[in-house]
Amino acid sequence: MRRIVYILVFLLFQGILAQQGRMIIPSELSKDLISRMQEMGSKLTADNIYSPNKTSLNDAVIQFNGGCTGEIVSPEGLILTNHHCGYAAIQSHSTFEHNYIKDGFWSKSFEEELPNPGMYVSFVRKIEDVTERVLTGIDKDADTRQKQAIIQKNINRLKKSLPKQDWQDIQIKSFFNGNSYYAFTVENYKDIRLVAAPPSSIGKFGADTDNWMWPRHSGDFSIFRIYADKNNRPAEYSPDNVPYQTDAYFKISLKPKKAGDFFLIYGFPGRTKEYLPAVAVQQKVEIINPARIKTRKTVLDIMKSYMSKNDTIKLQYTAKYARIANYWKKWIGENQGIKGSGAIEKKKNFESYFLSQVKTKKMDPEYLNIFDKFDKLYQQNRDIELARNYFIEIFYLNNDLLKRAFYLYNLKQTYRQKAKGDFDKLQKKYAEQLAGSFTNYNTDVDKAIFIALMNLYAKNMPDKYQNTSLKSDNIDILAGNIYQNSVLNNQKALKKLLKKGPKKFIEIINKDTGYTFAETFINDYYQKIAPDYQNIRSKINSFQKIYMKGIQQTLNNRPVYPDANGTLRISYGVIKGYEPRDAVYYYPISHVKGIIEKYIPGDYEFDVSQKLIELYKNKDYKPYSNTGEMPVDFLGTAHTTGGNSGSPAINSEGELIGINFDRVWEGTMSDLYYDQKICRNIMVDINYVLLVIDKIGNDKRLIDEMILIK
Ligand code: ARG
Ligand code: GLU
Repeated sequence: MRRIVYILVFLLFQGILAQQGRMIIPSELSKDLISRMQEMGSKLTADNIYSPNKTSLNDAVIQFNGGCTGEIVSPEGLILTNHHCGYAAIQSHSTFEHNYIKDGFWSKSFEEELPNPGMYVSFVRKIEDVTERVLTGIDKDADTRQKQAIIQKNINRLKKSLPKQDWQDIQIKSFFNGNSYYAFTVENYKDIRLVAAPPSSIGKFGADTDNWMWPRHSGDFSIFRIYADKNNRPAEYSPDNVPYQTDAYFKISLKPKKAGDFFLIYGFPGRTKEYLPAVAVQQKVEIINPARIKTRKTVLDIMKSYMSKNDTIKLQYTAKYARIANYWKKWIGENQGIKGSGAIEKKKNFESYFLSQVKTKKMDPEYLNIFDKFDKLYQQNRDIELARNYFIEIFYLNNDLLKRAFYLYNLKQTYRQKAKGDFDKLQKKYAEQLAGSFTNYNTDVDKAIFIALMNLYAKNMPDKYQNTSLKSDNIDILAGNIYQNSVLNNQKALKKLLKKGPKKFIEIINKDTGYTFAETFINDYYQKIAPDYQNIRSKINSFQKIYMKGIQQTLNNRPVYPDANGTLRISYGVIKGYEPRDAVYYYPISHVKGIIEKYIPGDYEFDVSQKLIELYKNKDYKPYSNTGEMPVDFLGTAHTTGGNSGSPAINSEGELIGINFDRVWEGTMSDLYYDQKICRNIMVDINYVLLVIDKIGNDKRLIDEMILIK
C-alpha cells in the first residue's frame, strides 16, 4: 500500500516537473538541454546561443528601454521590437498633421530617423555565476539584516572588481530567492532612433478586445536603430553619431511555418513566481486578484461610459484605458487558469511529496514545519496585502489627481530630508511630468473615478488600516470641493506652485484641500501599511529562500529553472495549437483572411487599412507567402512573461521567424504555474512584418538592409 502511495505521489511529482516552465540562463545551457532541443529539431549548439568570447545570438538580443526585448536585424543596428513597446516614442513624435500612431511612420533615409531622448537599449555580453563570492563571510547565526548587509557589501565590492571595459557596466542579480547570484556585463546604448511603425490598424489591430486572446491578428511590431559614436561605442544623442555596426544580427527566414516546428525565444522575462507554496497562490487568486480586478473594473466602466459618449475623451483616454485594462484582463485569465489547471491541488500534492523527501533523505529538519510557517505568515499577511493593494491601485495607479498628490508629497519629503539642491532638481523634473499629466485628462472623468474609488476604499479597506476621516456619505461633497478648489486639478496654479521655493511651496500645499486630504492617506500608507508589509515580507522571503533550496534538493540533479527576474533567458518550444475548453481546438496560425473577417469599418479596434484590403483581394503576398494565404500570428509552447514582448522567435538554424508579443488568456497563469496543455505564447510572423514594411510602408531600403533566407 505504502509503495503504491509512493508511486502515485512520484507520478504526480513527475507531472509537476514536466509542468515547470523553462526560463534558462543562457550561460547554463547544459548538454542535456541542447540535446533535448536537438531532438525537437534544433541544430544550435550552446556556443551558437551564448558565448562570452565570440559573436553569438546573445549579441543580437537587447533589452529595449528597460521593459521590453528587441533584436538586431541588420549590420547597421536595425532593431525590431513590438508596436506596444515603441508606442510612447511613436506617440511623442505624433501631431495632428503627422499622426504616426494612426497612419504609421516610414523613414526613407537615415536622416529621417527620429531621436528619442531618454530611450536606451542594453546588450548582455557576459554572464557569470558569482554565488560563492556574494555569499562569502556570512555568519550562520547572524540575523537576516546582518546577512543582507554583508551580501550587499560583497556585491558592491564585486561590482568594482570584476573586469570590464570603460563603456560597460556590471549588474549583479539574485536568483532562486537569494540562493544564487549572477553577474552580467552589460552595454547600454543611448541614442536610439525611431525608424518605422505600422499604422495602429495593423500594429494594434484588435486592441483591448483581442488583447491576451487567440485567434489574434495584430502586426505588433515597430522598428528602431541604435546609433553609436565614431568608435561604435555607446554615446548620448548627437547628430554626429552613426548607425551601430555589428556582425551579430539575425538573418530572416521566409520559410512557411507549420505545427511542430521548433523555435526558441530569447529575451528578458520580467517576473514569475513558480515556486510559491499553495497557500500563497490561493491568496493571490482568492484575495488579491479579486480586489485588483474589482478596482480596475470600476475605473474601466467609468472611462468607457465617457469614452462612448465623447470622441475627444475617447482619444484622450484610449492609451490609459489600454494600460489599465491590460492587467485587469490578465488577472481574470490568471484566476481562471489556476482554477482550470487545478494548480493549487497539484501544488499541495507536491508539498506532501516534498515532506516525504525531507524524511527519506534526512534533509535538514527545519524543512518539516515550513508549510506551517507559510500558513501562519500568509494568514497574518492577508489584511496587509489587501490594504497595500487597495492603496496602490486607488492612490497610485488609477486616478490622476491622487497620483499628482504623490509628486507633491515626494517633493515635500525631499526638502525635509535632503538638501535644497535636491528639491530644486526634483521640482523641475516633476513640473514637466505634471504638466504632461493634463494633456490626456478630463476633470469630469477623473472626478467620477475619484468618487467611485473613495467609496470602494471606505467599503473595502481592512479596519486596521481604514482612514477614519473617510465617511462614505460625504464623498460627493468632498470630491466637489477638491476638484473645484485644489491645485491638483488646476494646471495653471500647479505650474505656478512648482516654481515656488520650498518654504512657500510647503506653506501652500499644507492649506490645499486636495493635497491635505491625500496626505493623510499617504501617511497611513508609509506609517502603518508599508512597515507591516516590510516586516512580514522579509519573513516570508527568508522562508521562501529556504523552501527554494529544499525544492532544489528534493529534485536531486534534475534541473530547476530560476524564476524570471528581468535577466536574459532562453525558452524553447514548438509551434502548437491548444484546446481552450471542451470540444474546441485552436489552430496555431492566423491569416490575413481573419483580419478581413474581423473588419469593422471606422472602428477604433477593428478598422483595416485600404492597402491591406487590396493586398488581400489580389492575394498580393509574394515573396512572403506563395500559397495565396498570408500568415499573421502564431502560437507556441515557449514559457514567456511580461518583458518578453519584442523577443525574437528563432528557428532551428538560428534565423528569425517572428516577434513575441503576448500570451493566450487561458494560460496567463504561467507566471505562477506553467501548464503545457494550455500555456501558449503569441508571436507575429516575420513574413507578415516584411509584407507590411514592403507593401504598406513601401520602405524597400529596410528590406534591402536585412538578409532574407528563402
Ligand atoms: N498583453 C500584452 C502584454 O502585456 C500586450 C499589451 C499591449 N497593451 C494593450 N493594452 N493592448 O503585455
Ligand atoms: N505583452 C507582454 C509584454 O509587454 C508580453 C506578454 C506576456 O506577458 O507574456 O511584455
